[in-house]
Amino acid sequence: MSEGNESTTRRGQWSSRWGFILASAGCAIGLGNIWKFPYITGENGGGLFVLIYLGCIALIGLPIMLAEVLLGRATQKSPVGAYRDFSCKGSPWVIPGWIGVMTGFIILSYYSVVAGWALHYTWLSLQGGFSGMDAEQISSTFGSVFSNGTLNLGWHSAFMLMTVAVVIGGVRSGVERIARILMPLLFVMLLVLLGLAMQSDGFSEAFSFVFSPDASKLTRAGVLEALGHSFFTLSLGMGAMITYGSYLKKKEDIVSAVVVISILDTVIALVACLVLFPIIFSFGMEPKAGPGLVFVSLPIAFSQMAGGAVWATVFFALLVFAALTSAISMLEVVVSTIIDETRIKRTPATLLCGAAIYLFGIPSALSGTDGFAGEGFKKTTAVVFGEDQGKNWFDTFDYLASNWLLPLGGLMIAVFVAYRAGEAARRKGFEEGTRFQNLYVAWLLLLRYLVPIGVVAVLLHALKII
Ligand code: PFF
Repeated sequence: MSEGNESTTRRGQWSSRWGFILASAGCAIGLGNIWKFPYITGENGGGLFVLIYLGCIALIGLPIMLAEVLLGRATQKSPVGAYRDFSCKGSPWVIPGWIGVMTGFIILSYYSVVAGWALHYTWLSLQGGFSGMDAEQISSTFGSVFSNGTLNLGWHSAFMLMTVAVVIGGVRSGVERIARILMPLLFVMLLVLLGLAMQSDGFSEAFSFVFSPDASKLTRAGVLEALGHSFFTLSLGMGAMITYGSYLKKKEDIVSAVVVISILDTVIALVACLVLFPIIFSFGMEPKAGPGLVFVSLPIAFSQMAGGAVWATVFFALLVFAALTSAISMLEVVVSTIIDETRIKRTPATLLCGAAIYLFGIPSALSGTDGFAGEGFKKTTAVVFGEDQGKNWFDTFDYLASNWLLPLGGLMIAVFVAYRAGEAARRKGFEEGTRFQNLYVAWLLLLRYLVPIGVVAVLLHALKII
């Protein structure tokens, strides 16, 4: 099929099964793996948090991912149309589809700000890195980046422009092509950094931090965070995998593809921890540094390392690549819904959605300031989150989207596919193209019972109801 077909049929298609796997791995592997997972693992004390997260991936995330891809491939539509076609016209089930689109919109608006920090740090590293700076100067650099509204806006604009440029290119020559180039590069860069980390003194300490469970370090909120993050990292609950599944041909094996994507994502997150923590422990630093972990602790370590500027450049460029392939998937969900639901063509749809998301992200870019989005918003949200617990604009939307909207979105997809979809269509959607037809019943049982019970239990636990 030639690229021209995308404009005549109005719907793109991956060039092959590997095109889909790489693009979906690109969608799943992102800031969530390299920036967020290590710092939340650090904050939640390592081991046990990691174990719960792995359980959530295998028993909850994987079945939902399969449900999403199945829904997309069977209907060849993005979330709203997929829900509609799999139930019936006028069914209220399009509502979770729209909520998913809104979630993608929200996440991309602040994701782009973090990606902007990665761009800024790549730029700083290219200029000689952090050599000659002491720890205090480096941590104040991060503080001053976060509180510098103009700088954040500049990088947020640059990153959104890059994302829009790729999505305008379409499914095959935009999204798939960039994933085919950036994902292998990312794997190689991460392996090189792992080699470096393995030679450092802190490696064994880091290994046991990540892999030995310690119940005393995990809180109620930590369990919710592990679940929320398993959705975030696999890009579930907002229809990204429905959309990517909709560009798949009917003959492809989605069961094995989904397993490969989840394994790749999990391995990369664990490797990211094994790159970061050894370096952090070797330099006697705390794993609990929070969102600044990769932007403060790591540059401090790089500043004291031979060839630190080169390693820093490699690391931050890797972070940008990972962020870009995920950001395009979020924009793609919104854009493809607009294309499916209206007569608007890809280029104007992308420009329109990109601009709206960009505008909504401006307060996130200004969240480190004293103004409305920062201190002002903290005061306002203290009413909800409690005295001294107020969150700025950025943190509020990150908390809402990743801890609540994604798990709820995933729950709806599971309930919809397990209970609302017709048995014949569901079975056909699962079995088409796969050798693993005998796994159908096990998958359906997980989707029917374990997934809803697990998600609801964690949400009730977080609300202190159980
Ligand atoms: N999975 C991405 C990450 O780990 O960074 C984030 C993400 C992308 C979430 C796409 C949701 C999504 F639809």
